[in-house]
Amino acid sequence: MSPFHVTRTLPEDTTDAALRADVREGLAGSPKTLPPKWFYDARGSELFEEITALPEYYPTRAEREILRARAGEIAAASGARTLVELGSGSSEKTRHLIDALTGLRAYVPVDVSESALTLAGRALAAERPGLDVHAMVADFTALPALPDTPGPRLVAFLGGTIGNLLPAERAAFLASVRALLAPGDALLLGTDLVKDEKVLVRAYDDAAGVTAAFNKNVLSVINRELGADFDPDTFDHVALWDAGHEWIEMRLRSRITQTVKIPSLGLAVDFAAGEDLRTEVSAKFRRNGVRKELAAAGLEPVRWWTDGEARFALSLSVAR
Ligand code: SAH
Ligand code: TRP
Repeated sequence: MSPFHVTRTLPEDTTDAALRADVREGLAGSPKTLPPKWFYDARGSELFEEITALPEYYPTRAEREILRARAGEIAAASGARTLVELGSGSSEKTRHLIDALTGLRAYVPVDVSESALTLAGRALAAERPGLDVHAMVADFTALPALPDTPGPRLVAFLGGTIGNLLPAERAAFLASVRALLAPGDALLLGTDLVKDEKVLVRAYDDAAGVTAAFNKNVLSVINRELGADFDPDTFDHVALWDAGHEWIEMRLRSRITQTVKIPSLGLAVDFAAGEDLRTEVSAKFRRNGVRKELAAAGLEPVRWWTDGEARFALSLSVAR
């Protein structure tokens, strides 16, 4: 059994204050929005794992295929002794990387979902003797200092999660990742690619309704944490392709005219019938766009790999 530590940089009261501020601000806006990190309570993380196994949700399988084929090359190019993973979730695909990184000493998974982190971190620490697993409950959009583990570092950000940030947030995020890196350290980034609209929409609106349940789970989080009275059954899950922005937009559409009360915020929020609450975007990328965004953050793209059907890409870039 290797050492396993959990660091909380998100004390419960901070999380609560952040949720309250996000909900207050997001529901006052027009259109109404909610930031995606609140999807991932224990139930949300479980539902996301179910999504990754759906026949319509190709990104996980495509990225796993690339990781399986390229882990050796990634390991050789980075020579990492510390692997930091942002939004690590179940760390399931990451095992290919951990196995290939022969000099790896420390694994630092970072996630807002404490339940997912603890489950994955404990299992890895038990399976990989000699690997120091240092899990961090933290928000990757406000990155704390990393534990003092040996370099070089490889930061992995998989799952296409970067697409859940808006363009300005992405630029700030990539700059903050660059700031964590020393010269020679690397970023491994997973990006879902622009493709046929029908394939994209199906991936976010599956026949079994798992994505709909995942989307509506954010309402249950607000009910539980803030005492709100959202009735998830009065909202429909909507996934649409925004061709201008090249992103999938996830929404919850009120089926009826209603007023939702959030007593702990002193709020009563009116929804018109058919009014949308935007819960998440999932941007899709092209090679040139990824290259430009990395370069703008001071990262030099060195490798680009796709799966056999060119649905998804992994890129490796280096801090100089
Ligand atoms: N990397 C995994 C999980 C992707 S789902 C995979 O590829 O399958 C997105 C993950 O990011 C979830 O585990 C979620 O809890 C986490 N997450 C979302 N927003 C976050 C934030 N702001 N800070 C830290 N983790 C976040
Ligand atoms: N990072 C995932 C993605 O953009 C998250 C995700 C998948 C998601 N399905 C979802 C988020 C449905 C909200 C709703 O692909």
